[in-house]
Amino acid sequence: MTTHPEAASLENLLHETRSFPPASAFAAQANAQPSLYAEAAADRPEFWARQARELVSWRTPFTQTLDWSDAPVARWFADGTLNAAYNAVDRHVEAGHGDRVAIHFEGEPGDTRTVTYADLQREVARAANALAALGVSKGDRVVIYLPMLVESVVAMLACARIGAPHSVVFGGFSADALRSRIADAEATLVITADGGYRRGAASALKPAVDEALTGAGTDTVRHVLVVRRTGQETAWTPGRDIWWHEALESADTFHEPVWVDAEHPLFILYTSGTTGKPKGILHTTGGYLTQCAYTHRNVFDLKDDDVYWCTADIGWVTGHSYVVYGPLTNGATQLLYEGTPDTPHRGRWWELIEKYGVSILYTAPTAIRTCMKWGEDIPSAFDLSSLRLLGSVGEPINPEAWIWYRRVIGGDTTPIVDTWWQTETGAIMISPLPGVTAAKPGSAQVPLPGIAADVVDDEAKPVPDGGGGYLVLTEPWPSMLRGIWGDRQRYEDTYWSRFRGLYFAGDGAKKDDDGDIWLLGRVDDVMNVSGHRLSTTEIESALVSHDIVAEAAVVGASDDMTGQAVVAFVILRGEHAGRAATPDGAEQVQAELRAHVAKEIGPIAKPKRILVVAELPKTRSGKIMRRLLRDVAENRAVGDATTLADSSVMDLITAGLAAGK
Ligand code: WTA
Repeated sequence: MTTHPEAASLENLLHETRSFPPASAFAAQANAQPSLYAEAAADRPEFWARQARELVSWRTPFTQTLDWSDAPVARWFADGTLNAAYNAVDRHVEAGHGDRVAIHFEGEPGDTRTVTYADLQREVARAANALAALGVSKGDRVVIYLPMLVESVVAMLACARIGAPHSVVFGGFSADALRSRIADAEATLVITADGGYRRGAASALKPAVDEALTGAGTDTVRHVLVVRRTGQETAWTPGRDIWWHEALESADTFHEPVWVDAEHPLFILYTSGTTGKPKGILHTTGGYLTQCAYTHRNVFDLKDDDVYWCTADIGWVTGHSYVVYGPLTNGATQLLYEGTPDTPHRGRWWELIEKYGVSILYTAPTAIRTCMKWGEDIPSAFDLSSLRLLGSVGEPINPEAWIWYRRVIGGDTTPIVDTWWQTETGAIMISPLPGVTAAKPGSAQVPLPGIAADVVDDEAKPVPDGGGGYLVLTEPWPSMLRGIWGDRQRYEDTYWSRFRGLYFAGDGAKKDDDGDIWLLGRVDDVMNVSGHRLSTTEIESALVSHDIVAEAAVVGASDDMTGQAVVAFVILRGEHAGRAATPDGAEQVQAELRAHVAKEIGPIAKPKRILVVAELPKTRSGKIMRRLLRDVAENRAVGDATTLADSSVMDLITAGLAAGK
């Protein structure tokens, strides 16, 4: 298989032998029982049909389960009808749980709001009526560009309630990135805010929307709904812009949900792929909701008295499935926090856990490693004894971080679920089951009951235990993506062409001697920085769109804190080549290019390092050999360069960089 940047940490992983069997007290009360595996294996579609009936409310019950006749586009529960917002909100009120807290909101400045399921029902109904009054109807796309607010959840559910697919764009993306997503989805409405609080200050959002809407392909947008959060000065386009609170004020608190087919699109979420153009991942309603509810209940062991907290932003799939659809469908009580973990102090998260009695925490390895760096005396100053289960998502968690997470945050007792999944899979696919699986630090371990995964070699043959290769999913699953918005061919090419009939996830993996799965990171041109997916090609195109850049190559280099870090190699255009000759000049060029990438894509994509070089290593067919650049970026001896068109190029690069130091 492809040599991979995680190769070094792979060595450590293979020597990891610690195991944490479930505590018997936890196992005795766990939602998940060992028998689930056998039940699912006996009849996989029937197993899912049972989950769909038990965990989701249907307006019209389905009689069909899986229809794979148009593979690789699946149809699940296709003749059933339902509404996702009804499932997330109304049915809990109807069942007498209207007083149950759905959301404890905590703003970064410390303002709070408690939202019960009954409150949420009124808000969502109002918002749905407001959207309808603006002419948004079933099938129309709505782009949501918001910070982490109660209104963000309400906006998503209001769209679901009227059958208008939402496309949430992470607030950290630039106006350009927002524009291309609005254009690709041909959205008719954008929902945004004046701003949000970030690191102790009001940070504006609306200007990015204004700028995006001056760009090409956005004339489908008729209105912009603006949530007032910070009260900062905001430019206004009369007729187009409308305050959220004004639109809701006059709207009725009753709204009859629009019942949709199980396969009606629920949302589009753009994610980075191996080419420059982000992919609009399409999810539909019935199967998605079923798997979100099932995984949320069994992987997090959700009980009525739990206080659940997933720290993900709604701009990512984790926020969709495990802030909005999973927990709310299950009637959970959760914490929603607007800001950063270190504002106003580095103990903010732990303070919130103590304050709200959070019992289930779901976060990312990069956050855990950051807290490790800050020191354990910070969390140790708070009472974290309410925590009974911890989760991890977004990238492989290194065993040391896993052990620290359990010991310092989990009081050495909590189970940890390391959950592997993707925007495309919609919900968790591979994870230990708490109370059932003996956990191994660093491994996501086993496909959930109902999920079929394997590790295969280049010829698509399953590798034996102890072997390594590519992670594939071998059977359709309810929350699988139904395609890439507007591009069926790209869907088939990206996921289904590498290994015929198997879904190729893009991750390298290894089976240990027990057959447990260890994820090793991406094997394609996708990087994973702090659990966020970034495309090397997309950043390269951003760099070459700058006047002074002739060519660019981007690699993800291993980074202790963020998993991977973006490192760019650029060749400057002839007339600018001299600019990087002095240290000051080089620094200025780097600053300019980093700012340019932030503008083109967003601050999250800014390269950590930019190295100006005279040549890039290419094969005879012109393909950039990123593997060699990764060696340079990770300060390793450069590997085999014999397939280069010009084998002296690497000497030139390393010599040039050494001279520049
Ligand atoms: C990586 C996030 C190892 C993986 C839910 C995948 C993981 C990509 C894990 C999807 C994990 C996610 N262990 N790697 N537990 N979870 N990944 O679409 O490379 O933002 O392909 O979805 O993150 O990222 P995405």
